[in-house]
Amino acid sequence: MKVTIVGAGNVGASCAEYIAQKRIASKVVLLDIKEGVAEGKALDLSQTATTLGFNTTITGVTNDYSATAASDVVVITSGVPRKPGMTREELIGINAGIVQGVSSSILEYSPNTIIVVVSNPMDTMTYLALQSTGLPKNRIIGMGGALDSSRFKTYLSKALDKPANDIQGMVIGGHGDTTMIPLTRIASYNGAPVSQYLDEETLEKVAADTMVGGATLTKLLGTSAWYAPGASVAYLVDSILNDQKRMIPCSVRLEGEYGLEDICIGVPCIIGSNGVEAIVDVKLDEREKQQLNESAEKVKSMNSALKDVL
Ligand code: LAC
Repeated sequence: MKVTIVGAGNVGASCAEYIAQKRIASKVVLLDIKEGVAEGKALDLSQTATTLGFNTTITGVTNDYSATAASDVVVITSGVPRKPGMTREELIGINAGIVQGVSSSILEYSPNTIIVVVSNPMDTMTYLALQSTGLPKNRIIGMGGALDSSRFKTYLSKALDKPANDIQGMVIGGHGDTTMIPLTRIASYNGAPVSQYLDEETLEKVAADTMVGGATLTKLLGTSAWYAPGASVAYLVDSILNDQKRMIPCSVRLEGEYGLEDICIGVPCIIGSNGVEAIVDVKLDEREKQQLNESAEKVKSMNSALKDVL
């Protein structure tokens, strides 16, 4: 199985690293526009194969899309990352052109691929990729919910002082500081509702920390995060390539599900070899429904900025 990662920045390289290390694919191609960067990172990563014990071949290329031919999955991470104080939304103008160009070049060589969009503002870039390529909606998946959910579970595990892998929970809605919806009501500690152990104030703090999870890291690092984004992409790609049919919150096109349409936004999906195989209908309470509607309004207003490119 072959995975191409477009953009060999921190996130792209981290995706390649986890995909190889976890033996999710046999071939990984890293592509970047900066001469030598993808080649360098691919070479460096390939030299970890014998110590880490994987046989995935990792190749780096500068803008040569022919090397990406017949990819099963393509991950688009290209675009400019956030600087401290910037919102994901401020990246829209620059990244729209990049994502549109990359998706059409990719499809020339891999017409049957499934595309995973990571570039920000992610929900809008997913919508753009879908509209501009005309691909069926199961083949364009926005990666945000897997990352936001992993941050949510990590903050919950800290608040509970329990192991992160004993926590279940998900974040739906937009992948933005004010559009994410951490579903604290249905989060659990091995099946027991977290509200049995944490008071309302603590739960609100966990939700608030989750929503600005990316911004907190951007402030600390001076650029956006890469380990958790890379690992979340690998988790999603694994579910596609190995047909795991995991339920993962992803940004996908809705056509009436959750009462929304003509939008890509985070909802729980079944992810398998056909990409988005189903959207899971989780029963939301009135407050959560209202939050999702408000989130969708914000994402749609951002999408309206695409009218100049679509
Ligand atoms: C983040 C970026 C990848 O949330 O959107 O860290």
